[in-house]
Amino acid sequence: MASTVDSTADKLSNLDSNGDFASSAPNLQKNLHLLSPEQIELAKILLEMRQTHVFENWAEPGVDDEEKKGFFDQVARLNSSYPGGLASYIKTARELLADSKDGKNPFDGFTPSVPTGERLTFGDDNFIDFEETGVKEAGKSAFVLVAGGLGERLGYNGIKVALPAETTTGTSFLQNYIEYILALQDACKLSQGEGQAQIPLVIMTSDDTHARTLDHLESNSYFGMQSTQVKLLKQEKVACLDDNDARFALDPHNKYRIQTKPHGHGDVHSLLYSSGLLNAWRDAGLRWVLFFQDTNGLLFKAIPAALGVSATKQYHVNSLAVPRKAKEAIGGITKLTHSDGRSMVINVEYNQLDPLLRATGYPDGDVNSETGYSPFPGNINQLILELGPYIEELTKTGGAIQEFVNPKYKDASKTSFKSSTRLECMMQDYPKTLSPSARVGFTVVDAWLAYAPVKNNPDDAAKVPKGNPYHSATSGEMATYGANSRILRKAGVQIEDPLQQVFNGQEVEVWPRVTWKPKWGLTFSQIKSKVGGSCSISQRSTLSIKGRNIFLEDLSLDGALIISAIEDAEVKVGGSIQNKGWLLEHVDYKDASVPEEIRTRGFKFNKIEQLEKNYSEPGKFSLKP
Ligand code: UTP
Repeated sequence: MASTVDSTADKLSNLDSNGDFASSAPNLQKNLHLLSPEQIELAKILLEMRQTHVFENWAEPGVDDEEKKGFFDQVARLNSSYPGGLASYIKTARELLADSKDGKNPFDGFTPSVPTGERLTFGDDNFIDFEETGVKEAGKSAFVLVAGGLGERLGYNGIKVALPAETTTGTSFLQNYIEYILALQDACKLSQGEGQAQIPLVIMTSDDTHARTLDHLESNSYFGMQSTQVKLLKQEKVACLDDNDARFALDPHNKYRIQTKPHGHGDVHSLLYSSGLLNAWRDAGLRWVLFFQDTNGLLFKAIPAALGVSATKQYHVNSLAVPRKAKEAIGGITKLTHSDGRSMVINVEYNQLDPLLRATGYPDGDVNSETGYSPFPGNINQLILELGPYIEELTKTGGAIQEFVNPKYKDASKTSFKSSTRLECMMQDYPKTLSPSARVGFTVVDAWLAYAPVKNNPDDAAKVPKGNPYHSATSGEMATYGANSRILRKAGVQIEDPLQQVFNGQEVEVWPRVTWKPKWGLTFSQIKSKVGGSCSISQRSTLSIKGRNIFLEDLSLDGALIISAIEDAEVKVGGSIQNKGWLLEHVDYKDASVPEEIRTRGFKFNKIEQLEKNYSEPGKFSLKP
């Protein structure tokens, strides 16, 4: 004990001689004997970085001593989880806060232009070819789901990935993603007998989502994946800042804790790098890493084609994108060329794109072209990176992504904030550090096929200006039925037109409630091979297909059909199936007697009557009522 106190005294005298820190933090000084040498080192960093205020209200020794140790445990975590430690975090924060105060535009000196990429039309020969290539490449892929976000806009009490993507089957987003990855895994094996045995899945979590994500996986036996196939990497939060000098904000409920907030999904790159997984994947012969987000139930419908584009065009970075209306609130994939020769292809946020265009010779700013859409594809933040060049880049950067800060100022003097802020980084900013020779492109697919995230709560969704996407649980679920119906239409099934209906204040297209398991229809060619003759589905119908070898032939459905079959059962479904079906009923969002997952959609199913068949024995069957 004595030696600790002695070394403490030494350190303190050090600090004194360097800059009179001890006298500026008397409450720390009184408590120094409680701290280990490592903790003293951390204290020194804090004092050197002008964070003395965090000790201002510390109690006398003997009071709250455990809390004081807890404070340093937290500081140690914050220090070790940030590249360069807390000193680097504070230094960067001061620079970015100064730039923000001066109103500096991060894109100053850059001229925007439309980059090159691939624009796909669902179901045409080109699309089908890319899908075929993509499915083969899937065996050389790893998937990374970023799922550490708080989901404040959605305001759901659980984790977003456990929400049902649709309520006809109740399949959660995570289950849906896993089933798609397993279907890709099977397709690689079935089609060519090659590819790795298991496609790896990494899920980035945070303290807000980690335990519940693990529980959702474990209590559902990983939805059919091997538990070793799934790795969870937890991101740490970063310190909140109270002012332009980057002074740490203390937790309003505990003076011994620094307030923290998520650092953003950009953390995924440094976490992957430090996990060692990337090298292991490369050694196992993998070629692609696919990044995706927590609540986009449509995404995998575009993955085979987009992966096919990556392979064919040899893109180091391929951003999946959708057509974007000018001024729509999604970023545009943009080529930026600097007068000093630098160039990059990067997402430019919509509120930066318009001023950037105006400042560089486009007086009308962000406007639609003759196609009726902005020439800049809309970024949906699903990235496909080629593993080799990715590892090369991360070896240089350690996975650090350029950060930004977004303080909400109290007034025009920009001297104080409405609430604390912090540094953030975004996954899609990865290409910012790439050399101009890197092959960075995009793949545009229709939004109805690939993009319907669930981000907004019903109140906010209802306020979305007409014509813009709601991005709510209501629109996300209806988009699933819409996409499936359109795909079947393209495959030759007669699908009745959708009705317009309003749920939770949002007017949506209501198509027949068609769902299938990914292993039934992973690509368009596969889906086409499962429907034959003259099939039709009425608008009020529900169709749920669970089973790889279920074939629709001359089926006329007007009601509900719920069909499942084991792998070895081949079932032909045809004839006229008519019943009272499942009625779509309104639910009041505020009605607390209805589960949150349901009322946030504004509708529920009243299952009046259905034809339900389950084929659990191997063989060939025909269902013709
Ligand atoms: P969102 O833009 O949906 O943000 O994140 P969010 O934080 O989840 O929700 P809001 O803004 O509070 O309403 C896009 C994706 O990035 C993940 C989310 O889980 C989602 O899949 N994300 C976001 C992280 O993994 N970590 C973060 O720090 C932030």
